[in-house]
Amino acid sequence: MRQSLVVGNWKMNGSVQKNQSLLESLKQGIGSVQQAEVAVCPPFVYLQQVSELLKGTVIAWGGQNLSQQAPGAFTGEVAASMLGDFGCKYVIVGHSERRALYGESDELVAEKFAKAQSVGLIPILCVGELLEQREAGETEKVVKRQLDAVINLQGVGALAKSVIAYEPVWAIGTGKTATPAQAQDVHAFIRGRIAELDTGVAEKVQILYGGSVKGNNAAELFAMTDIDGGLIGGASLKADDFLTICQAGK
Ligand code: 13P
Repeated sequence: MRQSLVVGNWKMNGSVQKNQSLLESLKQGIGSVQQAEVAVCPPFVYLQQVSELLKGTVIAWGGQNLSQQAPGAFTGEVAASMLGDFGCKYVIVGHSERRALYGESDELVAEKFAKAQSVGLIPILCVGELLEQREAGETEKVVKRQLDAVINLQGVGALAKSVIAYEPVWAIGTGKTATPAQAQDVHAFIRGRIAELDTGVAEKVQILYGGSVKGNNAAELFAMTDIDGGLIGGASLKADDFLTICQAGK
């Protein structure tokens, strides 16, 4: 039985004051979350604040991105080891916003994944298709290509120490959630693809769903066999909504 995991991706949101009040509320309410592990991924500059507020609690934290490079002359970048310095457990790699807006290729995402693991961070690898790709029947092809980039670089065994997040791009921030059946189909496809190479890894790896998950649809999504929790954007910024989603973890 895989433990469920619910991760809040704050994206480029927050302020010192808002983070403080959000995290105080999460700390107060986290006792109501029975099953799921919970984590939050704030913008880099707030990692110090978040680590201080969450130290000693059951809530973990992580980065939203990292550099594929070792520390050095890379202005504006953040190295994996620096995330480790601030107690990060997780780091998101290959979010569709980074792929689309910052030109991150499958190969670059795979390098970032490897760099994260090299310092003991758990990468949360995001995969997912665009609306045109879904309509053209290419969902599985796209997701397989994104997944295989990591498998080709690191071997399937590397997925055992990672989390995968299926986020259909058309469902992100649009209020259009994939139906539980649509999401389950792709999650089963991902697990099946991994199982072709290593059944043990396939059985173990947590696959999260992301894309307009809210308090009122989380339970039906998380109830599906191959959905092991969620990667939550907008709803992770409100303590009540986020806690309701976390409570839906099985
Ligand atoms: P929303 O929950 O706002 O749709 O965002 C999903 C997401 O991109 C999480 O990484």
